[in-house]
Amino acid sequence: MKSIKIGIAGTGVVASGVVNVLKRNQEEITRRAGRGIEVAVVSSRTRSKAEALVGTGVEIVDDIMAVARHPDVDIVVETMGGYEPARTFVLEAIANGKHVVTANKALLAEHGNEIFKAAQDKGVTVAFEAAVAGGIPVIKSLREGLSANRIEWIAGIINGTTNFILTQMREKGWTFDAALKVAQELGYAEADPTFDVEGVDAAHKITLMSALAFGVPINFKAASIEGISKLAATDIAYAEKFGYRIKLLGITKRTPDGIELRVHPTLIPESRLIANVNGVMNAVLVKGDAVGATLYYGAGAGAEPTGSSVIADLIDVTRTITADPEHRVPHLAFQPDALENIPMLPL
Ligand code: HSE
Repeated sequence: MKSIKIGIAGTGVVASGVVNVLKRNQEEITRRAGRGIEVAVVSSRTRSKAEALVGTGVEIVDDIMAVARHPDVDIVVETMGGYEPARTFVLEAIANGKHVVTANKALLAEHGNEIFKAAQDKGVTVAFEAAVAGGIPVIKSLREGLSANRIEWIAGIINGTTNFILTQMREKGWTFDAALKVAQELGYAEADPTFDVEGVDAAHKITLMSALAFGVPINFKAASIEGISKLAATDIAYAEKFGYRIKLLGITKRTPDGIELRVHPTLIPESRLIANVNGVMNAVLVKGDAVGATLYYGAGAGAEPTGSSVIADLIDVTRTITADPEHRVPHLAFQPDALENIPMLPL
């Protein structure tokens, strides 16, 4: 069977993880997808950077829109991050009948309703495993593994940068600034690290999980958000003295009055599993009515963990493309017009 051709927008940390894992695990990936997955085109304003990533033999373009419109491309991979030009790129790709795999939680949290509606109308898929909790397959678990359940709540450490900072401050006595600098050097932090430290990135992610878990539209504006920038080393030390760890949690919960959506630093007894999730690792607890509480743990950021999730989506979408269109499973199933029917709690 003919290989699936992908076009990648961006040559940063996530793109490098995708390309390297695709090359290294080509045999397994082909077997699981049922056909090969090949990079056909990459966009970059710096040709040498793109060549260093994909080598020669892959088309390199400087205009991202050429990827969105490329006649050979079946799936575009958006790894640029940020709102624009990512939004225009994704909408253009959808308009051109391309499926989309994205790691961009900011884009989906702000513009997801528009994007998923456009995809639904066009009959293409927008997949976003890599947008939430890096390498942990939590979106897949919500979509599939837990799909028999009525989800009651989700709570998680879903920002690797802040968990890395809090861990280094507690274990090694590093300053906030020193820990953030290392997180940036390791490629964990967002282009604008205030998104990490002020809890915005975690809020983007919990908003997406909330929509998926409760079948409601994406409503980032309803999130109550507090980050870790006001925490001092003494807060962390005092918490420890009393047997607690401070973790930045994203929480969403179904209540009789509506859905709660919040991010804030939380005191957790040190005996709890989630209190011992350290460094860049993330952990997500999901409570379903049938299964009870479940816990997902793994690397929340970094090139290959995020690449792992992007490729899982590529394999998933490849199987979807191969399947009869009537039996395709949407990645986010909600009615975009249903927002007014499901109140989000003002907190
Ligand atoms: N800046 C994000 C984090 C990257 O630190 O978790 C992964 O989404």
